[in-house]
Amino acid sequence: IISVNNKGYKIVDDTDVLNVDEIKYDRLLFKEEVESTNEEGKRQAVKENCDRLLVTCNYQSKGKGRIGRSWVAEKNRGVYMSFVLKPDIMPQEISQITLVAGIAVMKAINSLTGLKTKIKWPNDIIINGKKLVGILSEMSAEMEKINYVVVGIGINVNEDEFEGELKEKATSIYIETKRRFKRSDVINSVAEEFNLCYDKFLEKGFSAFVEEYNESCANVGMRVKTVGGREEIKGRAMGVNEKGELVIDDEGEMKTVIGGEVSLRLENNKYI
Ligand code: BTN
Repeated sequence: IISVNNKGYKIVDDTDVLNVDEIKYDRLLFKEEVESTNEEGKRQAVKENCDRLLVTCNYQSKGKGRIGRSWVAEKNRGVYMSFVLKPDIMPQEISQITLVAGIAVMKAINSLTGLKTKIKWPNDIIINGKKLVGILSEMSAEMEKINYVVVGIGINVNEDEFEGELKEKATSIYIETKRRFKRSDVINSVAEEFNLCYDKFLEKGFSAFVEEYNESCANVGMRVKTVGGREEIKGRAMGVNEKGELVIDDEGEMKTVIGGEVSLRLENNKYI
């Protein structure tokens, strides 16, 4: 039983404590508690044999979001996982891996829960206009060479509700399905799908994902504007191209934006 600020008490089901034995993954680093699985992934990334290492934890105390935001965690509710990767691709192709991760997570959630989610470019997984999953990729690279990439995935799984400004913006698998899912099942399912998609990406490149991405992209056909880039681009979102850039039709002129520090809003400022 926990106290909820000014509201009284609520009974919490704390039985889903993640256990390392439930996670089926060869190259696994499991921690009971960690500040950020991405930060831990970056520490591991300088070691030998860390390609495809999966870092995950029961509780993440200082999760990082995109654009300097934080990723809030409630005990025993969410999934926090980061893949350490050493792809032999050019630094400018990194954002494609993040898009591929979005497709993988979407597919994994669909096969486990039946939920039909969409992707808000570049890689928020959303359902009913609210965010279910956030993905943050970080890399270390030189001009022509990538040292490592850490792809961090945060999934809202068993949260009953969200407080404050998140109430309007965030949702969880539980809120959408009214069913509890074991977090280990979510992790196993995402890890399996991610590795399948990543293999395909290394073999065939991002062009093999363009159609699938655009079919699932919630922004396609909508009037959007970019936030956080050097200049604001406004227009109709056309979908991603073979480089993974979002194409925006600005009064007939096709402009492209690359995921990273740029976010997307609807022209009326709404999230989606
Ligand atoms: C976003 O802002 O949408 C991205 C959120 C990414 C959160 C995940 S949780 C696992 C990994 N570790 C972190 O510190 N962040 C990512």
